[in-house]
Amino acid sequence: MNPTEFKRRRNQLMKMVGKGNIAIVAAAPQQVRNRDVEYPYRQDSDFLYLTGFNEPSAVLVLVPGRPHGEYILFCRENDPEQEIWHGRRAGQQGAIERYAADDSFPIDDIDDILPGLLEGREKVFHIMGRYPDFDQKLMGWVNQIKAQSRSGAHVPYEFVSLDHLLHDMRLYKSRAEISMMKKAARVSVAAHKRAMQLCKPGLFEYSIEAEFNHEFRRNNAQHAYPPIVGGGENGCILHYNDNSEQLNDGELLLIDAGCEIEGYASDITRTFPINGEFTPAQRDIYEVVLQAQKAAINKVKPGNHWNDPHNAAVRSITKGLLELKLLKGNLNKLIKDNAYRRFYMHRTGHWLGLDVHDVGDYKVGEQWRLLEPGMVLTVEPGIYIAAHSKGVHRKWWNIGVRIEDDVLVTRDGHEVLTRALPSAVNDIEALMAG
Ligand code: GLY
Ligand code: MN
Ligand code: MN
Repeated sequence: MNPTEFKRRRNQLMKMVGKGNIAIVAAAPQQVRNRDVEYPYRQDSDFLYLTGFNEPSAVLVLVPGRPHGEYILFCRENDPEQEIWHGRRAGQQGAIERYAADDSFPIDDIDDILPGLLEGREKVFHIMGRYPDFDQKLMGWVNQIKAQSRSGAHVPYEFVSLDHLLHDMRLYKSRAEISMMKKAARVSVAAHKRAMQLCKPGLFEYSIEAEFNHEFRRNNAQHAYPPIVGGGENGCILHYNDNSEQLNDGELLLIDAGCEIEGYASDITRTFPINGEFTPAQRDIYEVVLQAQKAAINKVKPGNHWNDPHNAAVRSITKGLLELKLLKGNLNKLIKDNAYRRFYMHRTGHWLGLDVHDVGDYKVGEQWRLLEPGMVLTVEPGIYIAAHSKGVHRKWWNIGVRIEDDVLVTRDGHEVLTRALPSAVNDIEALMAG
């Protein structure tokens, strides 16, 4: 992403933070997986959003109006020996030249330098509670200034949660962000197509997962979340990700997988028959979910509120279940009584961005938030009928269907970023037959 994009974001945030105050954001710590082995590093999304800097052991400090520089980046020093073992570091020079910091200091000197930056500021904007060790350090630095207050040091007197300001910014995607999310969507669509084309009875869930790894990595992308590849009854387990079992003829396969590129996520679910042809019962349920998804996507437009797509999906699913006699009674009463929850137990979507369940408030006060251009959300209704469901004919057992797409709110409606991936029954069957 272009460095000017990060600069624009920092400037926008600094305007809100205001002169005389300070904002501090820590990089994500490196996580240990097991003895001497670390998880692949994933930068904190807020830190990444403001810097584009992808190293651990770093702290961003913004001091609006500071004459010697408003944007300070603490990071690891260059160290030829360490870099031979663990990889390259930007160092202070890199922080200034490549990441446009006004000033950069070694992270090891932060205890000496940060109290001086805090001293004399009124409010400290900070994301509290995310990294408790860092919260502790911040308190320590503030206490250090307090200890000097008798010699005239001014202690910041207010801690303000930075989340609200920053996360509201992140909710509205810029052109650059939308184009990155489209890229992630393209790669995920290609991977889902590969999976559909390759799938056949007898393969294992993990061999289908491998197609995603291949397609993602060859595009310099990675999984945005652990992929769900669930055949038959596993498709009815919402967070299944063992991905270890064999795929049976006559059953469905539910795949929820999406990649991230430069941190920006896509999130796609498709459900299709392992042998390439839906049975009548599978098709019946599938069509109900597909209609519900269409009804929900149609509600994505400026002026509608966050819950409108969900309400549309609930109405459509309840109506469909009623027609299939999986529910009995009066439509409005069933909706009022949440009868659908037996088969549709999650919500219809979430914000999408640098985090797959992205930041941003869903309500403003007591009211659902109004949709506005630049917001991106998923629309992902589903129906899940576990085996031995009481009072449910066995022809419906082990049918788990979810259809999930990523949708951008535009000025006059919406754009489905993942629309290149077939979801109609005939289109899926045609792709799998080809
Ligand atoms: N893949 C996570 C979700 O669909 O919310
Ligand atoms: Mn999702
Ligand atoms: Mn998903």
